[in-house]
Amino acid sequence: MSDPEKITIPPVPVRTETSPKRGTFPRRALRECLLSESAGVGPTNVLIVGAGLNTVYGKSRCPHEPYQLAAMLEAATQEYQMTIVDSNPEVIADIQQREIIFYPVEDRDWDYDEEDEAAWNNYLQDLGLIDRIIHKIPDELQSAISFIRLASSDQGANRIDELVYQGALRRGVHIAKIPDTFLRKLANGEVELIQGDIAMTHLPDDHFGFCSMMNLLCYLDVETQKSAVYTVACSLKGGGVLVLNEHRAPGGKTPLFAEAGGWLGEPELQSLGLEVVDVTDNNDKSPDFRVIDKIMRKKSIPSVVDRQGIEP
Ligand SMILES: C[S@@+](CC[C@H](N)C(=O)[O-])C[C@H]1O[C@@H](n2cnc3c(N)ncnc32)[C@H](O)[C@@H]1O
Repeated sequence: MSDPEKITIPPVPVRTETSPKRGTFPRRALRECLLSESAGVGPTNVLIVGAGLNTVYGKSRCPHEPYQLAAMLEAATQEYQMTIVDSNPEVIADIQQREIIFYPVEDRDWDYDEEDEAAWNNYLQDLGLIDRIIHKIPDELQSAISFIRLASSDQGANRIDELVYQGALRRGVHIAKIPDTFLRKLANGEVELIQGDIAMTHLPDDHFGFCSMMNLLCYLDVETQKSAVYTVACSLKGGGVLVLNEHRAPGGKTPLFAEAGGWLGEPELQSLGLEVVDVTDNNDKSPDFRVIDKIMRKKSIPSVVDRQGIEP
């Protein structure tokens, strides 16, 4: 077990709280599809597209996905490289500078739930850490949880937000370090950060064994979605795994999968060289909030991928 007292709060300018459950589905996919078969497969090249949380609260929450995946790879003693692409320079700066992650002690009436708790515990377990809670939040961390204060013109809503914020300050935060391997790889270039639009980003062909592009495509128009999916499909190597989802978040409503009214159906997947290996359809939600998570594998014949093959 690591000594939790060794965690120090670094004086970094970019610090936002973490949404622990982000990355839970990619973590499951990585474990089930790659790590269970990993004996002797060599290093894993991981691509994460859109690592930050959206900015509907005026501030990006910390991207937990890279740290969840890195912690699991570290726990499995799996050698890895990671490339993270995000269009938001704040997200890239955050990952570049971050040394700790933290989130407020749960307020079940607000934004955190048992999924966050489970994800946080998995993360701690992967890294052999015990849960550490700071009850008196240091001044330099207080502004980091201010994202929960919604900038609203509604005075009543702002009053509630203020109470929530004050409550969070009273309850304290869970705090943990970032995986050592992640920090080391960030320093030596094995974790690479790219600020850019995935639809315009040049990535090496036939390179990544795993790609997560979650909770992002719904915010893009159809043409950009197509370019983004094409880009990551080309960059996967044969047998590589891609996780994508349908998620009609507020502010983003472009459907993706054909069964939800989008363009990505079986013919398009075939032309991209992808096949679906697992689907979780949370169809009990309202149509506006339908959530479908899919795990896909790139078929081993890369020549199947052809940009012309994607129907306009
Ligand atoms: C809603 S967050 C998703 C974060 C994380 N993947 C998750 O599942 O919680 C969307 C992220 O994608 C980034 N993003 C939006 N459009 C993008 C684009 N065209 N290319 C790359 N990143 C983009 C945003 O900056 C943000 O960090």
